[in-house]
Amino acid sequence: MRFSDEIVDDVRSNSNIVDIIGEHVNLKKNGNNYIGLCPFHNEKTPSFSVNEPKQFFYCFGCQKGGSVFTFLMEYEHMTFQESVRYLADRAGMIIPETEMTDEEKKISSIRERIREINHKAVNYYHYCLNKDPDKRGYNYLKDRGVTDETIKSFGLGYSMVTRNGIYNYLKKQGFDDEAIKASGLVTFDGNGAYDKFFNRVMFPILDYRGKTIGFGGRVMGDGKPKYLNSPETPIFSKRKNLFGMYQARSSKRQGFILCEGYMDVISLHQAGFDNAVASLGTAFTEEQAMILKGRRDDPTIYLAYDSDTAGVNAALKAIDICNSVGLVTRVISMKPYKDPDEFIKNEGAEAYEKRIINSEDSIKFRIHVLEDSYNLNEPMEKTKFINIACTYLVGLDGIARDEYEKWLEREYDVSGHEIHKKVVKGGEEAERLHSYAEVKKASDDDRKRVNDKAKEGPVVQEKMLLSWVSNHPTIWKKVREYINIDDFTEGLTRQIAEIFERQISENGELNFGELIDSFDDVSIHGEISSIISQPVYQGGEDGEEPNLEDAKRALVDIVRKIKLSSINRALSGSSGNGKPDYNQLGVEKAKASKIVIPLEYTDIK
Ligand code: UTP
Ligand code: MN
Repeated sequence: MRFSDEIVDDVRSNSNIVDIIGEHVNLKKNGNNYIGLCPFHNEKTPSFSVNEPKQFFYCFGCQKGGSVFTFLMEYEHMTFQESVRYLADRAGMIIPETEMTDEEKKISSIRERIREINHKAVNYYHYCLNKDPDKRGYNYLKDRGVTDETIKSFGLGYSMVTRNGIYNYLKKQGFDDEAIKASGLVTFDGNGAYDKFFNRVMFPILDYRGKTIGFGGRVMGDGKPKYLNSPETPIFSKRKNLFGMYQARSSKRQGFILCEGYMDVISLHQAGFDNAVASLGTAFTEEQAMILKGRRDDPTIYLAYDSDTAGVNAALKAIDICNSVGLVTRVISMKPYKDPDEFIKNEGAEAYEKRIINSEDSIKFRIHVLEDSYNLNEPMEKTKFINIACTYLVGLDGIARDEYEKWLEREYDVSGHEIHKKVVKGGEEAERLHSYAEVKKASDDDRKRVNDKAKEGPVVQEKMLLSWVSNHPTIWKKVREYINIDDFTEGLTRQIAEIFERQISENGELNFGELIDSFDDVSIHGEISSIISQPVYQGGEDGEEPNLEDAKRALVDIVRKIKLSSINRALSGSSGNGKPDYNQLGVEKAKASKIVIPLEYTDIK
């Protein structure tokens, strides 16, 4: 059983799609729409739009689209039921339990129970900071200069040196083994249950709502591994979260500081750099880059990785990932210290602020790193080095390229003319490869378009009509004088027409959220969003009043074509309505070419 339509309707109308998506994507108002950078694909200029009056989103770049529920299903990987429940909770509505099947109850409740367990676990671990007679965790944090205030604001805790501390606690709280196991806080094997974390300082990892989804734990002393993280669970993915993001998202500081570890984030925040985040025990991912990108307009990412070789290599990878999603990166030097935590402890916040100001852009950083592998006193080595360094400048905007060329010339005392020649040559080579790929792609696309057109002739017209109606619902009744629902080809367009018909006869208006959610298959949501977001004839240049006569002509043309296609299908016997009645169809065909639609100015305003 699903939620009743009534409940889904209620939840939909209590959840403004702009607010929900706005929690994840930086949206700017633009006419009726809000636009932003698409969270589903990598782009530099916004093609993701959220339509407030129609309550749907659509990305013109990757064609993902749908209702507020679709967004949560796609972005948060919720099921439909979960998205309804989540939005109901958010709006303070209560959904009767009987609305869920047993299977749904189980899935939804396992996530619910893991969330609940994590919530209890934060309190438990926090309480253990004081409960431990030796106060190992608390003293450790104090030794590292972590204040009580920071302990509180990050919800830090301690896991005791026990086999079953958290396990017994959770059992006492009424959780069953299935949920406890799924939370990843306890390991089960042939001999029973063991706490996964013991004798560790605990760092709760929060989602964007500030709810705990997992933990990192730092061992006390020299045990291995030094840091242990919660495993992947139904609510926790290391690739898609960042430590400190919940706090950093509302920072007033410019950009984000990306660092390697939990303690770096903690000491940076404590020193006032509350825009610091770290990846979670694994290398920085593209998903994480997209999250950073979505939070601010064009954020600069300041890399604060360890200054050892591993840190430098990780920084180079992170730079590539950031650049690939269009983020600008700079690198903060921590030298002679190992990491931000050590730096701040020794030099303080003001000195760190200076390091941020003096951070190096990632091209210079890469060239400086490269330099370390060459002996520049050897002419051949130096030549190799300069050759490679020049390739880093290929593809830069002309002015930037000039600046870097001048910089190379000064920094390494080489001929500017030679550098310029190399960079230009590299550029031509790259362009050749690039344009070949572009041309090939364009011709493939063209071929595909032509094929699609031939196949979908009437469907294209039907979609255009549906776009018209979406923009100007009052024309539906006028069009229906000439077009029946079964004049639409069988498939998506007819299904949409049926829903329009029902919505208008029941409510006198269209409900796009309901239209989209009528389809279980999320991949169709994008297609529907595309149809309802297509602009139709607006007349003249930007801002000019639509021209009624032009609009009429355009619309009538579409309606006639649909009608004629439908009649032709019937004549050829391909519409499956038995033997065609040639006389009748002949009359209809003659009528179709004379269709006029009494459009009025108010219909298309
Ligand atoms: P580091 O070893 O650099 O940690 O690992 P750190 O912050 O300097 O540690 P302290 O100062 O000795 O406490 C950086 C990050 O790599 C991950 C953790 O996320 C850690 O914060 N890591 C490290 C692990 O996941 N497991 C490990 O065993 C070590
Ligand atoms: Mn470190």
